[in-house]
Amino acid sequence: MNILLTGGAGYIGSHAAVALIEAGHGVVCFDNFANSKPDVAVQVEQIAGAAPVMVEGDIRDRAALDRVFADHAIDAVIHFAGLKAVGESVALPLDYYESNVWGTACLLQAMKQAGVRKLVFSSSATVYGAPQYLPLDEAHPRSATNPYGRTKLIVEHMLEDLAASDPDWRIAILRYFNPVGAHASGLIGEDPNGLPNNLMPFVTRVASGRLPQLSVFGDDYETADGTGVRDYIHVVDLAQGHLAALDRIGADERALSVWNLGTGNGHSVLDLVRTFEAVNGVAVPYKIAPRRPGDVASCYAGPELARAELGWEAQRDLAEMCSSAWAFEKLVAIRNG
Ligand code: NAD
Ligand code: WQD
Repeated sequence: MNILLTGGAGYIGSHAAVALIEAGHGVVCFDNFANSKPDVAVQVEQIAGAAPVMVEGDIRDRAALDRVFADHAIDAVIHFAGLKAVGESVALPLDYYESNVWGTACLLQAMKQAGVRKLVFSSSATVYGAPQYLPLDEAHPRSATNPYGRTKLIVEHMLEDLAASDPDWRIAILRYFNPVGAHASGLIGEDPNGLPNNLMPFVTRVASGRLPQLSVFGDDYETADGTGVRDYIHVVDLAQGHLAALDRIGADERALSVWNLGTGNGHSVLDLVRTFEAVNGVAVPYKIAPRRPGDVASCYAGPELARAELGWEAQRDLAEMCSSAWAFEKLVAIRNG
């Protein structure tokens, strides 16, 4: 198949590009490079043996989208493009609604006009809001606690309405838990601009000395060691989950399906820090800081539906997440001189 990856130059998109090319698919990445660089295509080619086609463009630009569908015989779309920083979404909500909601509507209109009706959408466990029970299964009630989460929830509703309006659509909503780690080559990974919001990129920068110290946000939660528990999932496993979802919707009767992509295992902040130190032989200095507003004590997936329906489950453990993230950080440090 020829797959269009919106946001394909980004962290998860670039790992999905590798997995798709390795599985024999053609890949076209459509990205405005707001949070990525076009030269990731070189690294993807080094790993996978073929380069994705890179098209610079914005999902809010309908004409640019129409051109991509006209220029390439696209069979399916994986829609990663969007903004994803929770704090920024509180400060700049209109940017989030414009990119994530309006941008997705533009993409869906372009797909409809081009007659492309297979879509995999990057949703998030954030749509579950504060967990009412654990593990979180796909039937858990949804709510949003910040503008970013609300954009994901609105797009989920938009996709439900679209699937109900036309049974020819084949849509997968994938709810990611906490993607971390990097490709085993260390060539692609997560290197956010500015101060990282998420734990793993903060940890790698502290370990390499780019940042002085990690703040552990709260040690008085009702968890085994008092620090927050999350379902960290290796980005390469996550990428494989997209292949499984694409295969499944191709053969599916349903117009819309929803799957969690998580491991089902919860790890605390201190579990992650200690594993990182042990597998990589480096120190991660930290201090205990106040809780971060909006954080919950624990959040982890029920991964059974994905296992049963996609035949997919995460293979890589926390040690591999930590070692690959560190290998990538070391290459970034070399590249940055
Ligand atoms: P990322 O920022 O690395 O990738 C997103 C890509 O989209 C970037 O390359 C960016 O340049 C591009 N982009 C942004 N706005 C665009 C626009 N208007 N037009 C075209 N391209 C645009 O983020 P990621 O971590 O790879 O996330 C991918 C998707 O997965 C996002 O939709 C995100 O919300 C979702 N998600 C991420 C996480 C996570 O923790 N990383 C968790 C759950 C869901
Ligand atoms: C993990 C744990 C923090 C940083 C966010 C989004 C969610 C999804 C994934 C996109 C928590 C603790 C963190 C630090 C810390 N993204 N922490 N010090 O909050 O589970 O989820 O990313 O959809 O929507 O909300 O991930 O990596 O920020 O935090 O102690 O410097 O690490 O308190 O317990 P989170 P995270």
